[in-house]
Amino acid sequence: MKNLRLESIYDHLDGDSSKRIDQFCRTYTSSSGGLLESKALWNLDYFGLSKTDLGTNLDPSQRAQIAESLGSSLLREAQLIEVAGTAFTAKMSLLAETQDQRSLYSFFAADEARHLRFFDEMLGKAQMKDRKNNLFLDYLETAISENPRPILVLLVQVLLEGWGIRHYATLGRECLNEKVAEGFKAIVLDEGKHHGSGLVLFNPKELDSPLTKHLEDLVAEFLMMIRSGPVLVVSELDRALGGLTKKQVENLVEQMQIGEKIESDLALVSHLLSLAGADSLCMKMTEYNLFQLPKSSEVVSTILSQLASQ
Ligand SMILES: [Fe+2]
Ligand SMILES: [Fe+2]
Repeated sequence: MKNLRLESIYDHLDGDSSKRIDQFCRTYTSSSGGLLESKALWNLDYFGLSKTDLGTNLDPSQRAQIAESLGSSLLREAQLIEVAGTAFTAKMSLLAETQDQRSLYSFFAADEARHLRFFDEMLGKAQMKDRKNNLFLDYLETAISENPRPILVLLVQVLLEGWGIRHYATLGRECLNEKVAEGFKAIVLDEGKHHGSGLVLFNPKELDSPLTKHLEDLVAEFLMMIRSGPVLVVSELDRALGGLTKKQVENLVEQMQIGEKIESDLALVSHLLSLAGADSLCMKMTEYNLFQLPKSSEVVSTILSQLASQ
């Protein structure tokens, strides 16, 4: 399914026919526009920075600038996740085993297209350059294009969309712009349906032993990303401040309470796997010690090596 690769989609963004297709898409959404009336959608508190040495030493204009660039990075990432969501639902629709399932994924496809329009309206259309150096997006895109239906039900619907519910709910709750917050609330309701149906559709018996092993590797990879901490926030700070020292990263890990965040994220994954009845997968991840909180020195060195590779 080569056409599920995001690159092949970006190649066809411009041109007259693209504009006309865009007009058709508009007829399916009822947005009146004007989502970005204020620039900073979240304050530094949301990113856990207001109580850090780095955060308190910023002057007001730097604070505003960093809050704005962190917010737009989050939105860009969410936009590209929705791009992947449209590919996922199209693929699952084709792979559905019953007409009911196909209809279900077609409804979801419309949801994902609407979510994407929400972000497009704020940011303009997704561009290839926006996804550079984002390990999670690379992971998501490859997982969707290369894996069979039973794996995707667990990985995308149960885990990632379950994850998305909390992510979007927090973004909405803390958002400074009421209209944008409403948009996030609507997305959360949709993602709840996508995740809930994943819980119903996941059947471990559909996975033979090679597929089970492959699913374990994919979930382990996801857990390794969680254990790296909030890469997007730290790398954005690194860029905005012209590079972070090891001491600054150590302080951030401590003062942003990155350990607590990782712990709660790991617990969420374990909870989602249990909800789906993926007990043996959960046990495997426990056996690999992936649910165990990494030492803060490990988190610091992972962050430093990721910053160095950017
Ligand atoms: Fe979505
Ligand atoms: Fe979704």
